[in-house]
Amino acid sequence: MTLRRRLVLAGISGLVITGLACLGVALLQRQYVLGQLDARVTSLVGDTKALLAVANKADGGNAAAATLLSEAYVGVLRADGRLRTVVAPTDDPQLSPRLLGNERGAGPVPRTTTAGRFDRVRVEVVPLDAGRALVVAVSMEPVEQSTGRLWVGLGLAWVLVAISAVLVGYWVDRHGLRPIAQLTDAAVGVTASGGRQAVQVEVADPATEAGRLGQAFNTMVATTADGQEQLRRFVADAGHELRTPLTTLQGYSALYAAGGLADEAAVADAMRRINAEATRMNRIVADLLDLAQLGDRSALSLQRVDVGLMVNELAADLRVREPDRDVRVEVGGAGAVIADSDRLRQAVTALIENAVKYSDPGTPISLVAQGGARVRISVTDSGRGIPAADLDRVFDRFYRTSVAGPRGSGLGLAIVAAIIAAHGGSYGVDSVLGHGSTFWVEVPSSNS
Ligand SMILES: Nc1ncnc2c1ncn2[C@@H]1O[C@H](COP(=O)(O)OP(=O)(O)OP(=O)(O)O)[C@@H](O)[C@H]1O
Ligand SMILES: [Mg+2]
Repeated sequence: MTLRRRLVLAGISGLVITGLACLGVALLQRQYVLGQLDARVTSLVGDTKALLAVANKADGGNAAAATLLSEAYVGVLRADGRLRTVVAPTDDPQLSPRLLGNERGAGPVPRTTTAGRFDRVRVEVVPLDAGRALVVAVSMEPVEQSTGRLWVGLGLAWVLVAISAVLVGYWVDRHGLRPIAQLTDAAVGVTASGGRQAVQVEVADPATEAGRLGQAFNTMVATTADGQEQLRRFVADAGHELRTPLTTLQGYSALYAAGGLADEAAVADAMRRINAEATRMNRIVADLLDLAQLGDRSALSLQRVDVGLMVNELAADLRVREPDRDVRVEVGGAGAVIADSDRLRQAVTALIENAVKYSDPGTPISLVAQGGARVRISVTDSGRGIPAADLDRVFDRFYRTSVAGPRGSGLGLAIVAAIIAAHGGSYGVDSVLGHGSTFWVEVPSSNS
């Protein structure tokens, strides 16, 4: 059963129970007031002596007796069945109960009237001497009035409870149930689109649980759709990158099969090209595996790394590889970081490789390490630089600038970004097109 149906059912049950309770209270109250009225009638009857005296005196028209019983009717039922009024209530002098003949000794019973202002009375008839009977009646008007007032009061209270229940039900539905139903529809929509469609729900009031749930849902769906889109682009880019070397390999094998490689020199050349393309593919696959692994921070093997020492070693390697270049190093007081030594070295090496690849041979390269709460390592070259429009995207996977010159696979900086992000650090680039670039990475120092 849905939550909405359960709430409606609970509301209806509540209203029925409240209604029954009101009914019970009204009936009990009526019973109680009626009991009191009957007790009054019985007490009047019980005082037979006084009543007889009154009756006898009243026969003679004693007005004093009449005032004694101002609210009651007293009469004498003669043997011939005629009812003679002895005393009538002061506020209804014409009152006369309609007797059915079976009232004798039956206790107080309800009867209508034949004359007078009051419609209904409680009557008790007790036998006297010589076939006569004493008739005592009291109007039921006070009982009817108090019961009527109670009915109206309880009825109004019940209607108020019913209106409140409807309002509360509407409020709960509007702020609690409807957003959940919308969320369910949205979730079904997202599932149907395989997570690609970023269906969003309307968040009416973010202070409510349903509102917070809606916000969390929107964020989750947006993140999932974003992730799906990134994954789709990544697979497309990876496929595209791998297709180029594969096509080359296919081309050479087809050429060989068609007898296109006439002599040994041509075969050797083809084999060299095939080897170069296979190596490139291998590197791309290794880089992709690296990137996949770097998503898992727990795969890092953290240790204290002396940044100055590391940068000096990398500079020494660079000097050996590029003897013509002026390799400058500045590592004064860089301090240490807690990092995965191999991964950090891999990141800085990728920056150095780019500096070498995208600058002319013989131009200087400088490596700088600066300490602080974060240790910053920068690699500066005087190479071709990067157009300002590309600066935001050079760390993206497979992104390469449009500047003419050597090309790589576009994964180096993405790996740098992933390594530094896994260390909780930051990275960036400053570059002037045609003048050179400075790439930098920052990792929290071991003291912070
Ligand atoms: N120092 C630099 N100077 C000028 N352009 C650079 C520099 N470093 C990177 N770039 C530009 O940014 C792009 C992305 O660099 P990245 O290192 O990610 O890939 P790549 O060098 O093309 O390939 P890979 O590093 O995977 O072999 C490069 O293709 C190049 O266009
Ligand atoms: Mg590179």
